[in-house]
Amino acid sequence: MKIALGSDHAGFELKEDVKAYLLEAFSQHEIIDMGVYDLTSVSYAEYGAKVGKAVASGDVDRGIVICGSGLGISMTAGKVRGVRAALCHDEYTARMSRLHNDANVLAMGGRVVGKGVAREMVKVWLETPFEGGRHQTRVEQIEALTNE
Ligand code: RB5
Repeated sequence: MKIALGSDHAGFELKEDVKAYLLEAFSQHEIIDMGVYDLTSVSYAEYGAKVGKAVASGDVDRGIVICGSGLGISMTAGKVRGVRAALCHDEYTARMSRLHNDANVLAMGGRVVGKGVAREMVKVWLETPFEGGRHQTRVEQIEALTNE
């Protein structure tokens, strides 16, 4: 699986830790770091869009995006057609975003969650499959909206 990472300055430190974790614990996957690469202030919208477009185009299978609150970058990534970005705060929301919503982008807040919680979320999010069934229809309803 190819996984793109993106953050603004406020998510930079957590993004770096998530990257280190992925390289160590999920070395079977290809990790693509789409920035930022330092703490210079930037717009979360730019990086949310970069990762969202990479997922939507099929260049990568999944994306993980991080800004300060997780809000702006999840809103931006989720605007890209085909992207289901889930702003998660704990293991439960990360698991449910896969089981019921087939989220293809995980968003987190670097000023909200600690590194340990973020690592747990990433693990469960990567390892949990989509349940399908009745949830397939619901996910299709989300997608239908972006096609209106
Ligand atoms: C940056 O200060 C902050 O606004 C941004 O990281 C994010 O929290 C926006 O939603």
